[in-house]
Amino acid sequence: MASKPAVKVTVTGAAGQIGYALLFRIASGQLLGPDVPVRLSLLEIPPALKAAEGTAMELDDCAFPLLAGIDITDDAKRAFDGVNVAMLVGARPRTKGMERGDLLEANGGIFKPQGEAINAGAADDVRVLVVGNPANTNALIAKAHAPDVPGERFTAMTRLDHNRALSQLAAKLGVAVTDIAKMTIWGNHSATQYPDLFHAEVGGQSAAAAVNDDAWLRDTFIPTVAKRGAAIIEARGASSAASAANAAVDHVHDWVNGTDWTSMAVVSDGSYGVPEGLISSFPVRCADGKWEIVQGLEIDDFSREKIDASVAELTEERDAVRGLGLI
Ligand code: NAD
Ligand code: LMR
Repeated sequence: MASKPAVKVTVTGAAGQIGYALLFRIASGQLLGPDVPVRLSLLEIPPALKAAEGTAMELDDCAFPLLAGIDITDDAKRAFDGVNVAMLVGARPRTKGMERGDLLEANGGIFKPQGEAINAGAADDVRVLVVGNPANTNALIAKAHAPDVPGERFTAMTRLDHNRALSQLAAKLGVAVTDIAKMTIWGNHSATQYPDLFHAEVGGQSAAAAVNDDAWLRDTFIPTVAKRGAAIIEARGASSAASAANAAVDHVHDWVNGTDWTSMAVVSDGSYGVPEGLISSFPVRCADGKWEIVQGLEIDDFSREKIDASVAELTEERDAVRGLGLI
């Protein structure tokens, strides 16, 4: 029997498609490690509580050695009381033809009370990952309503985009994803994001140089990665779920356990010209449970333009939620 104290992990939208793919991975130990027991807290809206109970029955039926308990509630205060890891998944998924901006108003209202509940009851070491779209701006809203929680604890997910970029590049070059280092997604988790091959490396060489095909980089790679979410919706008739859950596990795992380089949307300190306070994706390294933005990268004109375009969209989203009184 594991001897470490159980970590409380709260998953919102637990009865949704990502929740269904995520909870079993958390309970199996893949989120925090094979020796860390977890207590799951499932937050749902009342009509979905029964489905969440069904998922909890299945979790019980797995007899996971690390699963120390499951609580199901529609009360955010209870769900976040004592939480160590908060995975904010519950939101309205984008449907065909809908842009993320359309979701701001619908989803903004969800993240204000959740930020307040985190502020009121979370554990001192709480770490928050926002998955629900528009993820960067939803994280901004939650953070704005949790003034007692250090701002760096609020992050949003661009790890799915990062993993998509790794996979597309590996296929193009005929290499393994493990041969690629220093991949970066900059900006918003949206079609304006900038997957950067100029700082990525393959076998120690610049990935852009290894590709040696500007047209592919510009007209195939970047749009394929940036619009992959829409392509999945078109193909499945539903937004990505298992790959999103996988990325959420990767994000929290690496934040807690450390990594030399990954992509996370984090609160800007003004690095790389991104206005302070925006939650934007950067290259980060993680150690001792903390992230820091990788510094000192040279940004050429092409990358500058791409980063600026995505950051402009984030600025617009921030201004829109400000206008709605959400921050
Ligand atoms: P889904 O509709 O299957 O599930 C969402 C769940 O959230 C539902 O069960 C719903 O009842 C619940 N919910 C709604 N409001 C809630 C609230 N206030 N509190 C608690 N639960 C609430 O959606 P899904 O496919 O699981 O996707 C969830 C979100 O993740 C969507 O916003 C989607 O766009 C987003 N997403 C983000 C990424 C990313 O890379 N950042 C990737 C894929 C999906
Ligand atoms: C994704 O990237 O798969 C999701 O964010 C779905 C979406 O809304 O594009």
